[in-house]
Amino acid sequence: MSATRLDRRTFLGGVGAATAFGALGLPLAQAAGADMPLRERAARKGMVFGSALMAASLRQMPALGETAARECAIITPENEMKWRYTEKAKGRIDYRDADQIASFAAGNALALRGHTALWYRNSPDWLVPELAGPAGRGLLLAQVTQIVSRFRGRVTEWDVVNEMIEPNDNLPKSMRNWPPFAPGDVGFLADCFHAAREADPKAVLYYNDYGVEYSDTQGYGDRRRAGVLELVAALKSRGAPVDALGVQCHTTVGNRFLEQVYRKFMADAASLGVRILITEFDVNDKRVTGSPAERDRKVADHARQVLTVAFDESAVKGLVTWGLTDRFSWLSTSDDPRDRRPDGQRTRSLPFDENMERKPLWFAIADCFDKAKPRT
Ligand code: G3I
Repeated sequence: MSATRLDRRTFLGGVGAATAFGALGLPLAQAAGADMPLRERAARKGMVFGSALMAASLRQMPALGETAARECAIITPENEMKWRYTEKAKGRIDYRDADQIASFAAGNALALRGHTALWYRNSPDWLVPELAGPAGRGLLLAQVTQIVSRFRGRVTEWDVVNEMIEPNDNLPKSMRNWPPFAPGDVGFLADCFHAAREADPKAVLYYNDYGVEYSDTQGYGDRRRAGVLELVAALKSRGAPVDALGVQCHTTVGNRFLEQVYRKFMADAASLGVRILITEFDVNDKRVTGSPAERDRKVADHARQVLTVAFDESAVKGLVTWGLTDRFSWLSTSDDPRDRRPDGQRTRSLPFDENMERKPLWFAIADCFDKAKPRT
């Protein structure tokens, strides 16, 4: 098993990469030189660093693959394992891009996340009418089994269920209103986790969600935090094999961040007996004006504030960014204009610029790993 391959057993017993030697076999006693990659800085503390990648981006930009292989110990296919990408037309399943990402991981001894088996935005267009009927949940459950089985032995951890909390839907426990899903039907979600465990007994299984960082004046963040904690607790109380919580951590400069609130959320999550991974980190600078250097500084400062609190919780095992380079960030092309900059400029939300040069955000992440308490 490669030094960075984290299977469920290893992950739950601490993070396997925390050995006398880092993932690249370098003596960890080596002081953190300025060029020490983020994966090494993380491994020195028993943590992991990684990033989401897109197959198309790897094909377009060889330097992206080189950087990912140097900096990451774990990667996530940004879209390639989603149902709407693997089966665009009913019955015509295409795993080529997902397999390309899996091959890249294997070829570089990287752990591989599966993303995501059940998500309300996963459905290919042809499926939507079928989901509304009585067979809908069976189709969703069958897909969980199919996708997890397909990558058994290659994917080390799965985002099994993604984003089932939405307070604005005004359902009990802030659960999302999604037609095939009877409001509050935690049992169906538990079934998805059981199906994933049966499909790949070694994979670490996550519930993954967003929006738990901030304290807005309307209480939306409070209801998201409560909803996520209640759902994980309810799943575990039913015996669902939820090993870990994915905290997406899509952040935005200028949002109201109260350290003590986030610290308590992380502690409350840890007390549920789950490991925590930051799974989709980026820093949206849509409200930040000024020069690129000024924007980069504010992005780095915000990241440092959030990650310092997150890494203080020893159950937090690492950080996966949602991309490595601003050139391919989803934030610049998001379907939702609220994600994008009003001036239409590319966001500066990731550790590397469009030329794969390290930005202040890279150094802020490095500093947070360097200052993190070692994980036992
Ligand atoms: O591949 C097609 C391309 O052929 C077409 O020309 C183009 C324009 O229509 O669309 C391309 O597909 C887009 C795809 O990203 C690949 O770029 C989809 O329209 C677009 O909806 C899709 O957005 C992705 C989004 O999830 C929805 O799946 C983003 O890249 C991806 O970063 C984002 O990631 C999600 C996580 O999975 C879950 N957490 C939130 C996060 C951000 O929304």
